[in-house]
Amino acid sequence: QASALLITGFLLSACGKKAETPAPAASAPVAAASAPAPAPAKVYVVGTDAAYAPFESENTQKEIVGFDIDVVKAVAQKAGIEVKFVNTPWEGIFNTLAQGDRDLLVSAITITDERKQTMDFSNPYFDAQQLIAVKANSKVTKFDELKKLKVGVQTGTTGDEVVTKLQGKTSANIKRFESTPLALKELESGGVDAVVADNGVIINYVTNNSGSKFKTVADKAFQNEQYGIAVKKGNADLLGKINKGLADIKADGTYDKIYAQYFGAAPAAAPAAS
Ligand code: ARG
Repeated sequence: QASALLITGFLLSACGKKAETPAPAASAPVAAASAPAPAPAKVYVVGTDAAYAPFESENTQKEIVGFDIDVVKAVAQKAGIEVKFVNTPWEGIFNTLAQGDRDLLVSAITITDERKQTMDFSNPYFDAQQLIAVKANSKVTKFDELKKLKVGVQTGTTGDEVVTKLQGKTSANIKRFESTPLALKELESGGVDAVVADNGVIINYVTNNSGSKFKTVADKAFQNEQYGIAVKKGNADLLGKINKGLADIKADGTYDKIYAQYFGAAPAAAPAAS
């Protein structure tokens, strides 16, 4: 094939004509391969709804910080990729991935079968469960008792899902908020009787807002959830890098260090030998 092109080119130039079509087509790839332009390192854009401490929040300098952020930074370092975090509202966050505005999402996102239809998830990096927040003087002792009460949730979260399942799709007693802190503010002002959200976030809020006089109610009826880092469906290359990075930070103790920094103790691993 190549020699045929060369001969054609030779014949054309021998005839005094410019070898217009064949010559550039044959030589272009060779030139590109021998002198590649130095491509600027790609910066992967990570979307996160930074109103979910201790997983992701904005500090007073408006920097995005938290457990998820440290995990992704450590993973990126192992994977040899550059990342930049962009505060992204939860509502519509999954669309930013599909549209290519974000390359990755880390946002305490629970891996669910439904979400797996539209995006790909890394291996799980954190275990979670729903938890109920109520006023300290509340009589609520279990999830089932929220059936007829006003409950605040963050729109489209797994907390929203469980409460919608309990009360029914048409319930007027579910108050949906664009962020979990807003739902908790509503609990404080008495607009709702309870808030259902991820345990880590509820515990963090209750601990840091003792003035709110909240207590938490756990219920074994809640299923175990696992957080994953999301990439656009089919982005196997990036997903592979992320999973490799996750495995690396778990193997070398980096993950445990980050975990201890935010949650005080190493994650429950295999039971210690007795
Ligand atoms: N884990 C829950 C879910 O996936 C809530 C996540 C909300 N995250 C956030 N950064 N607001 O639905």
